[in-house]
Amino acid sequence: MVLFDHPIVKMMKSRFHFFGKLPYFKNFYNEMKHNSDELYKFYYKHVQEQKAKIDFSSSADPTDFCESYLREIEKMNQQGEGHDFTEEQLIGVVSGLWMAGQETTTTTLTFAVLYMMLYPEVQKKIQEEIDRVIGSNRFITMEDKPSLHYISATCQEIQRAGSIATQNLFHRTTKDVIIKGYHLPKDTCIVPQISVVMNDEKVY
Ligand code: HEM
Repeated sequence: MVLFDHPIVKMMKSRFHFFGKLPYFKNFYNEMKHNSDELYKFYYKHVQEQKAKIDFSSSADPTDFCESYLREIEKMNQQGEGHDFTEEQLIGVVSGLWMAGQETTTTTLTFAVLYMMLYPEVQKKIQEEIDRVIGSNRFITMEDKPSLHYISATCQEIQRAGSIATQNLFHRTTKDVIIKGYHLPKDTCIVPQISVVMNDEKVY
């Protein structure tokens, strides 16, 4: 399949192409489209490369998510029953994990470093807790989290203050609701803004 005929790419194009016709948005749209095409080329290439390497006749354990998914497609195809495991879905899931997981994590960590530089007294307390609870002979694991109160609170505060995802994903109301006098009927598309709560001085 030629990449530009890819159903996901087609869906993206049909949804956003009207922006490309508006004078103000044209450059922004073209840049976004270019980046999105490049990303999908990247995912598509990697999925195809991995697929070519897999020995589907062997029952070896998959070494990662992509292989596992491709094996599942093969298994379902062999069983001959209808299913929703497709390469298009795989590319969608991989791109979701990549985009949702990568930039968010690196930006949050960048904020963590910045805040540690701005608040050396906090950094000192963190070090003190590590020295006291963990020591210097082993790595920290998730099992230590309940004992690391100050560090856990600092991580939460970094996420609140960094507030890197200013706008959330699209959601749908599952029933009629009234928010501050505005009536939102069932099935209204809404985009919550968690950053508004995170910066509300009445709450924090
Ligand atoms: C500090 C790091 C992260 C932050 C700040 C963050 C933030 C968010 C936010 C605000 C949403 C939208 C929630 C909503 O509106 O319902 C979201 C959704 C999502 N995130 Fe993250 N995220 C982070 C890390 C990750 C990682 C590491 C992954 C996966 C590897 C990931 C995967 C996802 C996915 C798949 C969704 C969509 C969930 C859905 O469909 O309901 N995120 N994230």
